Amino acid sequence: MSTRDDELGATIADEETTNPWAAWLARHDVQPYQLARKAGWDAFVAAGPREDFATLTRTQMDGLGADAREDYDEARMVWNANLPTIRTAQMASAFSLMGQVLASGRRDGDRLRGSVVIDAAPGLGKTTIATRFAKDFHRAQYRRHGPTTPEGHQRLPVAFVALTANMTLKTLNSKLLEFYGHPAAQRTTSTRLASLAVDCVVSCQTRLVVIDDLHFVDFAHRAGTEVSNHLKWLANEMPVTFVYTGVGLAAKKFFDEGLHGSDVVYAQTSRRATRCPVVPFSTTTAAGARAWVDLLAALEGHLKLAEAHPGMLTDHADLLFARTQGHIASLTNLLDRACYVAITTGAETVDEAVLSHVVTDNAAQNSYAAPEQPARRRSAARRREP
Ligand SMILES: Nc1ncnc2c1ncn2[C@@H]1O[C@H](COP(=O)(O)OP(=O)(O)OP(=O)(O)O)[C@@H](O)[C@H]1O
Ligand SMILES: [Mg+2]
Repeated sequence: MSTRDDELGATIADEETTNPWAAWLARHDVQPYQLARKAGWDAFVAAGPREDFATLTRTQMDGLGADAREDYDEARMVWNANLPTIRTAQMASAFSLMGQVLASGRRDGDRLRGSVVIDAAPGLGKTTIATRFAKDFHRAQYRRHGPTTPEGHQRLPVAFVALTANMTLKTLNSKLLEFYGHPAAQRTTSTRLASLAVDCVVSCQTRLVVIDDLHFVDFAHRAGTEVSNHLKWLANEMPVTFVYTGVGLAAKKFFDEGLHGSDVVYAQTSRRATRCPVVPFSTTTAAGARAWVDLLAALEGHLKLAEAHPGMLTDHADLLFARTQGHIASLTNLLDRACYVAITTGAETVDEAVLSHVVTDNAAQNSYAAPEQPARRRSAARRREP
């Protein structure tokens, strides 16, 4: 090696010791997983947890140079924004139900399998439940059967499809083909697309197909009925179990296939699909309140702030519940932002003052403001009293 190479090597090694966070960011910065493509899904399934690093004290932080401090803060913002997936009671019961439905997934290809429909309000963790379950399933299949099928195709135990507005039969099939990276995904006729999709599923030995955001299909209209019939056909044709997620699917007549009145009994979907509701946290019962505190306790240990301490979140359980109404997506949003405020203002903890600076998502913000209004009106009225 030349002297120049030696010098370069020494500088990199030096930076690794004085600024290990730049190196950490190079390995663990925000990951652009594209779950709806096989390469992206594969990367998501193969990814392990991010490497942990020590949380510095205020004195240690004060001793850092400007670049190292900037990178340390950036690294912990990435860390704080990627909270671990907690096995909540909602997730455990959904997993158990999906496990039951998948028991029929072991039926031979000539017999029909059921499907699971994760049907709940926005931001309750539907996609997280479906993807984490599918990830575990994918890993188990890989471990047992290896990455290649006996015919030499890449084994893809799971396919993931995210729907968008105005879904039709054709777009559904092309999205499925897009997952497999099939060159015909954008071309060819609807019928051909459907048979190509079945080919992909069969040759890659896919056993689970996750269809996210099914509420983009309007089952009360003809295009929706076509999609619904097509999904039934796919379930007949392919030896897979479908997991659907969506908002208000029962109200959107997914189970009834858009039928009304006495005709509803003819809806096969209702007999084939199992509804899996996901409820928000609730603090009205002792068990519910305990589950909420347990969730906060699991999350608070993960946050990298110099003044983080046990009780940092659990001591504010009521306030955090009021701010988020027990919706896990609103909670994780709020915590990302609270950590950002804590780091940028130098507060280095999550307390009432920091929380008062955090603006949550629209629904959480509106619901938090709403119950306060009567109280504000009452106190305004009191102020007006002589
Ligand atoms: N079990 C969990 N542990 C930790 N965080 C979670 C968990 N479930 C959900 N979250 C957080 O909530 C966010 C929203 O979850 P997710 O996208 O799964 O909800 P959703 O019900 O699919 O939402 P939408 O209705 O908008 O599609 C996630 O990005 C994650 O931050
Ligand atoms: Mg979702």
